[in-house]
Amino acid sequence: MNSSSGKLTVLGAGLMGHGIAQVASQVGGFEVSLLDVEQRFVDSGMKMINSSVAKFVEKGKLTKDQADAALKRVHPTLDLAEALKGSSLVIEAATEDPKLKLDLYRRVSDLSDRDAILASNTSSISITLLASVTKRPENVCGMHFFNPPQLMPLVEIIRGNKTSDETVNRVRDISAKLGKETVLCKKDSPGFIVNRILVPALNEAVFLVQEGVAEPEDIDKAVKLGLNWPMGPLQLLDYVGLDTTLNITQVFMNEFQDSKYRASPLMREMVRAGMMGRKSGKGFYEWGSPGATKTK
Ligand SMILES: NC(=O)c1ccc[n+]([C@@H]2O[C@H](COP(=O)([O-])OP(=O)(O)OC[C@H]3O[C@@H](n4cnc5c(N)ncnc54)[C@H](O)[C@@H]3O)[C@@H](O)[C@H]2O)c1
Repeated sequence: MNSSSGKLTVLGAGLMGHGIAQVASQVGGFEVSLLDVEQRFVDSGMKMINSSVAKFVEKGKLTKDQADAALKRVHPTLDLAEALKGSSLVIEAATEDPKLKLDLYRRVSDLSDRDAILASNTSSISITLLASVTKRPENVCGMHFFNPPQLMPLVEIIRGNKTSDETVNRVRDISAKLGKETVLCKKDSPGFIVNRILVPALNEAVFLVQEGVAEPEDIDKAVKLGLNWPMGPLQLLDYVGLDTTLNITQVFMNEFQDSKYRASPLMREMVRAGMMGRKSGKGFYEWGSPGATKTK
């Protein structure tokens, strides 16, 4: 695999991983190894990349030749050693499960090139913890993309306890090559910057519903028109998933030991009732079938 931009590896071909791989190839011009644990996951990731690239062509943002070249630079694989060989940056976007990620980091640390940076897209797991099971913790940092990575312009770079300046600088340079703006989170703190602000705001919106202060539609309308958010907090919660958001509030509660992060009992109840938002077809709004666009 020869290319002027070099090679990157993306671990996990799910919602985030496929998008990150696409950006690395389409915008950064990198050869990209995209790894998952089963063929069907890799296939599904490649299918999502194909359909997203086709949309860029439809909208006139990419020529057919550019799209074909971008697709050719993404190499799906199930073989970790092959995926890591010759790669200067490994972006890990595997399932948000600490045990699974720690196991993966141990293996990646053994198999990756000596100078390779291991960057995690985790939303809530400590970068210092992930680095602690590797041989070179100075090469580990957070590289937090936003959903969908193809469209969202921000990457939060997170410094773990031992992350070197060189690692931060290299991730900053590569992010710029991927067309992303970066911010530096100087400490490995739960939620980093964006989720630390967003999650309590979403939780507060649920408290407003629970206390009967206003209807969901009015809360969303108020925040859209009053704060110029493109989408209201309850609609956004339905997109993110109430279960995911509840998990993050629990991480905040555990890590900060501060009751101000207590999840609204209504959010807990809705998750128990299977009302996760768009993914389950119902949350604060009706979504018809799971994953559909809003019907009400
Ligand atoms: N979904 C979001 O909006 C969002 C936003 C920012 C960051 N994140 C973070 O990105 C990461 C991935 O989230 P997602 O939403 O893409 O999840 P996802 O469930 O869509 O994808 C995760 C993928 O990782 C794969 N995987 C599991 N074990 C693996 C292993 N050992 N090696 C390689 N792949 C493995 C799974 O098979 C799956 O395809 C998580 O850490 C999450 O916190 C998610």
